[in-house]
Amino acid sequence: MIYNISLLKGDGIGTEIVDSTVKVLEKTAEKSGDKFNFTSYLIGGAAIDETGQPLPQETIDGCLKSDSVLLGAVGGYKWDNLSGDQRPEKALLGIRSALGLYINLRPAKLYPALRNASPLKDEIVGGGFDIMIVRELTGGIYFGDRGYREGKYGEEAFDTEAYSVTEIERIGRVAFETAMKRNKRLCSIDKANVLETSRLWRKIMHELSGEYTEVEYSDMLVDNAAMQIVRNPGQFDVIVTSNMFGDILSDEASQITGSIGMLASASLGDNKPHLYEPIHGSAPDIAGKDIANPIAAILSAAMMMRYSFNRADMAECIENAVDRVLENGWRTADISNDGNYIKCSEMTKKIIEVL
Ligand code: IPM
Ligand code: MG
Repeated sequence: MIYNISLLKGDGIGTEIVDSTVKVLEKTAEKSGDKFNFTSYLIGGAAIDETGQPLPQETIDGCLKSDSVLLGAVGGYKWDNLSGDQRPEKALLGIRSALGLYINLRPAKLYPALRNASPLKDEIVGGGFDIMIVRELTGGIYFGDRGYREGKYGEEAFDTEAYSVTEIERIGRVAFETAMKRNKRLCSIDKANVLETSRLWRKIMHELSGEYTEVEYSDMLVDNAAMQIVRNPGQFDVIVTSNMFGDILSDEASQITGSIGMLASASLGDNKPHLYEPIHGSAPDIAGKDIANPIAAILSAAMMMRYSFNRADMAECIENAVDRVLENGWRTADISNDGNYIKCSEMTKKIIEVL
């Protein structure tokens, strides 16, 4: 098969990790007799420098024509002082929205080989954990009304959280279906003791749980969830939550796996193309030094094989290669605990060697 993939490398380490991933994909295709055509488009700061806008129309059009999209990361010090609408991050929200990607899957699992890299004690992570966070991605406070107005204390800024029944129901269904394919446990995380949107969220989730009686359903307040993730991560199977809470909790969940440099994500919608990206950012402090961890991006490509192309064979090939390299003791700086590490390009080579 021939697959057309749009590459949105973006800024900072985005370029290095996407280049690494392309090499891994090329080798995977060579082995399976498939072919990838890659086309790069501008996004984020790189697009601002080149075109004056973080998300040029040409990028959206190019993505829409392709079978799938691989994104690196956006943002950097250089663009930090631009106004909200002009910031590189705006492009991320823009592309998610333009492609209708309302589902964000963020798996966080502990690799046995990386147990030492987890900041949690052995007695907590000894049994391992494997959490799938289902984050709503095109609604909530990220996309609500915002601006400035005169308030009680003078000028104030505001952002609004809003969720419709439709938005909650469609992400809820995805979460229940995801749980059905895993260990059949789903925890919905909200702030229903304070927020009206959360109360509606909880009501809809409860209704859905009536349809999915095989799934052991629970709900949890987000402050408690933040605590439970570090107290006993093994209790979670699938988590479903809003855009904002999912953003925060997925960073927390990534940290206990040892490094945010390990976590992949898939952003899906009802139509192709879907988008795959590591959950980490552009890390401008280490950009260009060849010390980033390419694994999150490489595992994102594995998710692409599985979810966009229905190619579990290729996904497993990539995932097994990553497992093997970690088991063989190879580490990038972020996951090394003895000061010994290999560079981004070397890690890429190691993975390609065992593919
Ligand atoms: C993420 C990022 C983005 C988000 C930012 C960069 C807009 O933190 O993908 O988690 O908040 O969604
Ligand atoms: Mg985030």
